[in-house]
Amino acid sequence: MTPLESPDIFQTALTNWFDAVAKPYPWRKTTDPWHILVSEIMLQQTQVATVLNKNFFTNFIQKFPTPAIMAKATEQEILSAWEGLGYYRRVRNLQKAAIAICEDHGGNFPTDYLEILDLPGIGKYTAGAVSSFAYNKPQPIVDANVARIFSRLFNYQERVDTSKAQKQLWEWAEQLLSHDNPRAYNSALMELGQQTCSNKAPKCELCVIKTFCTAIEPESLPHKKAAKKAVLVEEFALFCIDDDKRILLQQEASAERRAGMWKLPLREFAQTESLTLLSKSSYAITHHKVTLRVFQCPPQTLPPVEQSQENWHNLSDLTELPMPSPFRKVLNQLLKDHF
Ligand code: ADE
Repeated sequence: MTPLESPDIFQTALTNWFDAVAKPYPWRKTTDPWHILVSEIMLQQTQVATVLNKNFFTNFIQKFPTPAIMAKATEQEILSAWEGLGYYRRVRNLQKAAIAICEDHGGNFPTDYLEILDLPGIGKYTAGAVSSFAYNKPQPIVDANVARIFSRLFNYQERVDTSKAQKQLWEWAEQLLSHDNPRAYNSALMELGQQTCSNKAPKCELCVIKTFCTAIEPESLPHKKAAKKAVLVEEFALFCIDDDKRILLQQEASAERRAGMWKLPLREFAQTESLTLLSKSSYAITHHKVTLRVFQCPPQTLPPVEQSQENWHNLSDLTELPMPSPFRKVLNQLLKDHF
């Protein structure tokens, strides 16, 4: 039996299960659309555990409880509040949405689906998530969790990263959507994708909708284009502190991915060859694997650089400056080791 034959039974099985097992995430305890939007943007490229880990969500909505407050914040304030979550374009778009809510909707979050969809940086998934989670409106959602569940339910053998497949997935989402309780139903789909219909080792024997599932080899679904191989990148950074205990930092230029953020000054490999290596670490970003080496550099031997915004900062001001996490981590360790 496919769920399309008995959508009511399918929906009830999911929502009853969700009532019993739902995780008490902080964004599930609110119906404030602005707070829901913040959570959805955070959860787009960041795992639930990471968002929960350092109270990123709770801290962020305490700092920016309304669109009006976020709309007025400086770039450095919004980057600092997002520090540790990465992919900073998200927080810039969030501010653009806050500004649009203030300018076009008098500061009141729109209730109409098409008006939500019209906000900058908000696509079909996010507009559906806000409409259903905040307003309990019957709007479908398809994210990676839902795509995985549907591709397995229907034993879908096509690649899901094509426009044809997306059209099919959204059609199923629309056809199966609960009109009685879209909030619980959409949340249940997300939860099932995370807890049961998981990527690598689906727990089919525990699944409450297994009677509807036609997957032959669920762990092989959904099909996707193979991930690109990671490109290796080397970064050579300086730990340069003067006699007044000020540290030299470099601000990312405005066209760069981390525009406005501060990091240890970078140089070419040849300029760091004769310096003492203090730390070596690595981090991953999109399809890059970066090895970051940091060298001791007395100010009098500072290698020259072209076109870079570099400034001296008091060590006591460091917490105020937005800094990419990999740099924050090594810097904290180096300061601990050397001071
Ligand atoms: N991932 C994206 N949105 C989510 C939500 N509302 N709950 C749990 N995980 C999510």
